[in-house]
Amino acid sequence: MAESPALLDVRTSAPIDAPPLSLSDIRRPVDSEFKEFRRYFRDAMRSNVGILDKIIQYVLRQKGKQIRPTLVLLSAELTGGITESSYRAAALVELLHTATLVHDDVVDDAERRRGVFSINALWKNKIAVLLGDFLLSRGLLLALDHKEYDLLHTVSDAVRRMSEGELLQIEKARKLDIDEETYFRIISDKTASLIAACMVSGAVSSSADMATQAKVRLIGEQLGLAFQIRDDLFDYGSVDVGKPLGLDLQEKKMTLPLIVSLQRAEPSERKRIIKIVRKKRKRSGDITNVGDFVRRHGGLTYARSKMESYAADAAESLSTFPTSEAREALIGLAAYIVARKK
Ligand code: IPE
Ligand code: IPE
Ligand code: MG
Ligand code: MG
Repeated sequence: MAESPALLDVRTSAPIDAPPLSLSDIRRPVDSEFKEFRRYFRDAMRSNVGILDKIIQYVLRQKGKQIRPTLVLLSAELTGGITESSYRAAALVELLHTATLVHDDVVDDAERRRGVFSINALWKNKIAVLLGDFLLSRGLLLALDHKEYDLLHTVSDAVRRMSEGELLQIEKARKLDIDEETYFRIISDKTASLIAACMVSGAVSSSADMATQAKVRLIGEQLGLAFQIRDDLFDYGSVDVGKPLGLDLQEKKMTLPLIVSLQRAEPSERKRIIKIVRKKRKRSGDITNVGDFVRRHGGLTYARSKMESYAADAAESLSTFPTSEAREALIGLAAYIVARKK
């Protein structure tokens, strides 16, 4: 067996100073199974409608990290072994994820995704909405065609929570009254729900018992929270991650770094910052201003420590499974989520 990549020190919760594994290292234990997933995914996307086929070819060219199918397969491997159902689960979650990203870029008015133009930027909102619906229905049919009702239930429930999370986020961006608790509810619903569903559907596909399903669900939830905090930190950075920076602020989305900084600030400064966030069109100076404010109040440091502690909780819980390559890969993935550059 490969040397254990214990990248998170589970006793101190501190990330250890070793380079994190790459995604292809992490996927190594399920390499050939991952190729099989890709075939399922590609086949499920096929359409005879000319325009649809053209857009689908475009989507297939920019793959994304494919973290969710990786989680499905590793979770299946961890809890009993990959089966035919695991491939369908992996394809289903990636289809749903792709659908939600296409819709998300309409909702957020984002022009870039995965380093290239978003679907709405190239083909406009009407087509992006319909493409999202097509991908969603393809995913659901993939499960129905094989009578995978447990899988369908798990994943549909995640989709419901994703929609609720996105809507709550819009409500809070209108009222600007979000607190830390509400932030966590939003990211749990919009992001962690699907990542938890990946872990559960992997376990369901390997016929794991209910206790194991509940255990991996919690691990997925923790990984998902860390994953979204990392994404929210990107918005305050200046490094290209293949999608727009500063967009959360532009869209009046207040995320963890800003929420805690506002809590810590004097009332007069709080008012000044809220006034900037409320502005309809922000200049780059406005974005820099809020960024400086957040840095000054330790908002980024706070968010980073929350992210690390969720990832460390997931790694600790994973370490209670019997040792295996899949277990080490998942612990590596927890470290990857914290350290990733896109
Ligand atoms: C982006 O997800 C949406 C969030 C939940 C932050 P990913 O970062 O997994 O997107 P791709 O699939 O790799 O592009
Ligand atoms: C995550 O939302 C996407 C969904 C969960 C639907 P964001 O809007 O924060 O993600 P990015 O940054 O655009 O990928
Ligand atoms: Mg977005
Ligand atoms: Mg969004």
